[in-house]
Amino acid sequence: MSLLELNEVKVHFPVRRGVFFDRLVGHVYAVDGVSLTIEAGQTYGLVGESGCGKTTLGRAVLRLNDITSGQVVFDGTDLAALPAEEMRRSRRRLQMVFQDPLGSLNPRQNIESILAEGMAAHGIGADRAERRARIVEVLEKVGLPADALSRYPHEFSGGQRQRIGIARALVLEPDLIICDEPVSALDVSIQAQVINLLEELQDSLGLTYLVIAHDLAVVRHISDVIGVMYLGALVEEAPSDQLYAEPRHPYTRALMSAVPVPDPEVEDTRERILLQGDLPSPANPPTGCRFHTRCPWRQPERCDTERPALVELADGHRVACHYAAEIADGTLRPTRELAERILPEDEPIGAPATTGADEADEPEGAAGTAPVEAG
Ligand SMILES: Nc1ncnc2c1ncn2[C@@H]1O[C@H](COP(=O)(O)OP(=O)(O)O)[C@@H](O)[C@H]1O
Ligand code: SF4
Ligand SMILES: [Mg+2]
Repeated sequence: MSLLELNEVKVHFPVRRGVFFDRLVGHVYAVDGVSLTIEAGQTYGLVGESGCGKTTLGRAVLRLNDITSGQVVFDGTDLAALPAEEMRRSRRRLQMVFQDPLGSLNPRQNIESILAEGMAAHGIGADRAERRARIVEVLEKVGLPADALSRYPHEFSGGQRQRIGIARALVLEPDLIICDEPVSALDVSIQAQVINLLEELQDSLGLTYLVIAHDLAVVRHISDVIGVMYLGALVEEAPSDQLYAEPRHPYTRALMSAVPVPDPEVEDTRERILLQGDLPSPANPPTGCRFHTRCPWRQPERCDTERPALVELADGHRVACHYAAEIADGTLRPTRELAERILPEDEPIGAPATTGADEADEPEGAAGTAPVEAG
């Protein structure tokens, strides 16, 4: 049995208008039918552009957002159907680490008080002394000095604050930790340290992670399986290595093509797919395939009218695209001239440039070596 199993989870936020009547005028389809499983001891990386519903999905697992429909089966129990008090108790086993460590730590509480709060609420430790002993132990695990106990959040660096956030989750002895953009607010040099810490803790404590990021580079090495989200739904899911070796969905290919490659020769010749237009609003998502307004392979009729299901194309590799097989074997060519191969002398072939904005995205001399971030 998987530790976490989501079945067709939907989170629709009502949009209301009107001064007196609070009239319902529509919904934001933030999460619109996500099914995935996470095995105990593994890391599931969830990626996608800002606004695609990653945080909402993470919060829905903890029921910090109301679930519109679907099941969240954690260790055999459907959390979506639990009475509030039982949910409160279950929450100890599911913890969240947030993007903005400072914003999620009360500036007026010292570290001991921040960490002891959740322990007391869940009845962990008989008294203050016992809780303190446990906190000291956990602080050491996350690489913070024992004297951190009596200090306040503002006295720590960004990386240290994220360690405090991780410690706050760990003192409750959770099974699953949802890390929502755990390193996005940190300097690149600190990001790797925090990711390494998460990996060490996983090894020593047997933790299961759902790691959310908008940056493919962040989840690549830590994840066993990666899911790519677009406008509230998964468009592709595969074991991490497989996804990077053979991205199958046009959206994943576009995301990957935005990640610079450390090898300058590969970097100079790699495929770049420029996406046209902005992310549509989740309050008014496109019909059919939600990616059709931006997809270079869009086919008439079917892509605009029929929503593709996430289907398994190879072992553990699921893709939601009607034409994934034809795109992979090259029998279907891009219908929009958006896929360009950048030659060493920076000369795009095969395509007139699309818009000024797209041109501005082209790096001068192909970006050189080893940047870590992608957008
Ligand atoms: N409480 C809310 N009420 C209404 N809309 C919301 C709420 N929370 C998030 N949204 C909307 O849901 C969509 C998904 O947001 P979010 O889950 O934060 O995306 P991500 O974490 O991928 O950036 C966005 O359009 C966002 O504005
Ligand atoms: S279903 Fe059509 S529009 Fe959607 S990703 Fe596949 S080719 Fe593109
Ligand atoms: Mg988010």
